[in-house]
Amino acid sequence: MHVIGGTASTALAERISRELGNAPFGIPFTKRFPDGEMYVRIGGRLEGDDAVIVQSTRTDQDLVELLLLEDAVREAGARRTLVVVPYFGYARQDRRFFTGEAVSARALCRHVELDADVVVTVDLHSSATLGQFSKPAFEASGIPAIARLLRERPVDLLVSPDKGGIDRVRRMAQLLDKPWLALEKKRIDSEHVELSLPDSVPIPLEGKHTVIVDDVISTGGTIVEAAKLLKRHRVGAVSAACTHGLFLRDAFERIKAVVDEVYSTDTLGNAAEKASVAPDIAQILRRESPS
Ligand code: R5P
Repeated sequence: MHVIGGTASTALAERISRELGNAPFGIPFTKRFPDGEMYVRIGGRLEGDDAVIVQSTRTDQDLVELLLLEDAVREAGARRTLVVVPYFGYARQDRRFFTGEAVSARALCRHVELDADVVVTVDLHSSATLGQFSKPAFEASGIPAIARLLRERPVDLLVSPDKGGIDRVRRMAQLLDKPWLALEKKRIDSEHVELSLPDSVPIPLEGKHTVIVDDVISTGGTIVEAAKLLKRHRVGAVSAACTHGLFLRDAFERIKAVVDEVYSTDTLGNAAEKASVAPDIAQILRRESPS
């Protein structure tokens, strides 16, 4: 298996290659033409070998680079192409709310899989989006990576900021053998939410080390409100942990002002990246590309 790291995921791709027993690893040559279009070239031939491309698609440019890499890998004669998209952009709009809207999650699945044999991603906005792929597609979870990290830290209570995250926080609670609760969340607009405690909490909050667990931190509004709520109930410490740390605009600074520690996985490079999903992705790749 050859691992190719796109510019959005070079470090994670290298970690995946190490997890695969130091599989050959390459960084493609890329440049921009004067008109801004991208040029991509991978080194060497791949005949008879499986190629793994690792590239998050946070921006439109990342997506174009991924499509070009898939073409380059085919051209180089790869036996099969396994495409790893650690952060799958455009996954939020996974259904049509108004006539005439594009369903971006479906559109992206269709185009990303075009030159792929297998697609692997991590914590999609909705796991149901996997059903949009016609090729084999798999979703790794960021929860085991965060759990490996939290095992080394004081944790009394795990907190989901909303009911939609119950499966996630419950899985984390099982891995760490800790109690959990889910807050009640009312979204006011895209940047503001109102949060409250559920009717019953599993342990008294005062003085406890709490960790808020979410799939993605975007504007940071949810984490900031959750941390303020927990502090009003006199918890001892609040940490925030997520799979995908987007940290838009000044989100990181706003979160750090109310939270003791911030942890994210390495699906997107950021200052909170302290856990790696490489072992979890490699496990799927080993299964899908047995040597
Ligand atoms: C919501 O359903 C998600 O799980 C996150 O809580 C949300 O996307 C976080 O967004 P923000 O950081 O903008 O509050």
